[in-house]
Amino acid sequence: MRLSERVERRDFQGEFLDVILKAAADPSLISFAGGLPNPDSFPTEAVRAAVNKVFDEKGFNCLQYNAAEGYGPLRQKICDRYKATMGLDYSPEEIIITTGSQQAIDMFTACMIDEGDEMAVENPSYLAALQVFHHYGPKIHAIDLLSDGIDTEQLAEVLKTSNPKFMYIIPNFQNPTGLTYSEETRVKMAEIVKGSDMFILEDNPYGELRFQGQAGHSMAYFLPEQTCLVGTFSKIVAPGMRVGWIACKNKELLEKMAVYKSSMDLHTSIFDQMVINQFLEDNDLEAQVEKAKEIYRGKAQIMMDSIAEYCPEGVEYTKPEGGMFLWITLPEGMKAVDVQMEAIKKGVVVLAGDPFYEYDRDVRTMRVNYSRSTDEQMVTGMKIFGETIKSLM
Ligand SMILES: Cc1ncc(COP(=O)(O)O)c(C=O)c1O
Repeated sequence: MRLSERVERRDFQGEFLDVILKAAADPSLISFAGGLPNPDSFPTEAVRAAVNKVFDEKGFNCLQYNAAEGYGPLRQKICDRYKATMGLDYSPEEIIITTGSQQAIDMFTACMIDEGDEMAVENPSYLAALQVFHHYGPKIHAIDLLSDGIDTEQLAEVLKTSNPKFMYIIPNFQNPTGLTYSEETRVKMAEIVKGSDMFILEDNPYGELRFQGQAGHSMAYFLPEQTCLVGTFSKIVAPGMRVGWIACKNKELLEKMAVYKSSMDLHTSIFDQMVINQFLEDNDLEAQVEKAKEIYRGKAQIMMDSIAEYCPEGVEYTKPEGGMFLWITLPEGMKAVDVQMEAIKKGVVVLAGDPFYEYDRDVRTMRVNYSRSTDEQMVTGMKIFGETIKSLM
């Protein structure tokens, strides 16, 4: 067998995750390593009712092949929500429904990047997006993420000295850091990007899960023609249904993405699309989002309180205004991988930051997920984690 170079390439991110997620699967461990939504937020009964109604009302149509671009009424609802929550104007023809937002990232990258092309990411970034990018062999510029968003000076320098085709950003409650761009950073970024021919791929899976503070503008507000937005129902309804989307105003790119998508999977499950659409028709999405936000607001607070109480001085952490993650920085001289391995021995899994960086290794940052654990697990787990750090200082 002669495998492609694409799949033979070393997958640092995948290897790293494999080891950790296998360890985290042990039910005797307390794990903050994953990124699963809390099932208490799932609208299980309402989805069950939507399933029955779809069968009753759509008959065989919910089981038939359908259009690659997605189900019209659902595309319309996504536009309505962009208008209501972000003040953005999209028409249904500018939305392609995808099999999770993960597929949207892949589809967009496939249409933009050839081997050796330049692109940019935040440093650190979402590790499964880095894995997608690696399949296409680009030269990646990793631009530091500061506490108020992307380092705009670095971005300006990169745009002056090189020619990235697009930059992938997660401006709200970023995975992995939990950080959010300030409005000032967004405005500055838009000014810098405006004069270039670089596209922005803005991923916003957590944007609706804001439990504190004011939302900033999307890059699509400043640069509608230069920005593609990626969205998902995974964090506000249910991830297992695999329904996401991409919103794009460039007609040529839209057409290419639709053709590419149809070569991958013909279309996203029409059954799942119809069920989500029915769920949205019959239920108040606002109330559903509110329920999820309340869960995460409480959990974020308990996690922050536990870190403050049990982690030694010198440990810093981000204070997320929404989403599912926060980011710990260990005292200087410490290695996150050492802490990760020692904590696992004591029954707690916290993910070292390494796989979220394109280039940096032996970092002293760690990602903490607070969406899935019980309150008791967070207190007990952070106590053990704090003792582990102290023992290695
Ligand atoms: C930043 C980011 N983008 C995309 C995804 C993929 O989500 P999905 O494919 O379920 O829509 C995730 C999942 O955790 C994520 O954190």
